[in-house]
Amino acid sequence: MPRAHDAIAAYEAAIERIDDGQSKERLAEFMADHQKHTENLGEHLSGMGEEVPTKGDVKGMLTKGKVVMADLMGDKAILQAMKTNEDDTNSAYEQAMNHNDSPAELQTVLRSNLEDERRHREWMEQRISEL
Ligand SMILES: [Fe+2]
Repeated sequence: MPRAHDAIAAYEAAIERIDDGQSKERLAEFMADHQKHTENLGEHLSGMGEEVPTKGDVKGMLTKGKVVMADLMGDKAILQAMKTNEDDTNSAYEQAMNHNDSPAELQTVLRSNLEDERRHREWMEQRISEL
């Protein structure tokens, strides 16, 4: 999945800045999921001769930038910024899953990662409504 490293940079920025203890803990768990996804997809992408992205690009700076800006407005805004990042990740996985010609093994990885991403987004929506 492209942009996986960007998501991790955004997580690092959010974990560093958010004050809500529960959010800090969950974000750390979700960041570990994203790291796992980078690895499990990286294996497939290198197997398929595609280049694995290793560092953030302009899009990545924007992804992280949203979090840095949101910090000026507090925890809820940070989670809202992270939720828009999760929306992008969810859409990217949903689109990838529509490529039915990808190998079955890769589809299994994509499906499992998408389940994690849906869980991340759901938790954020819930916590945003509580804060
Ligand atoms: Fe996520």
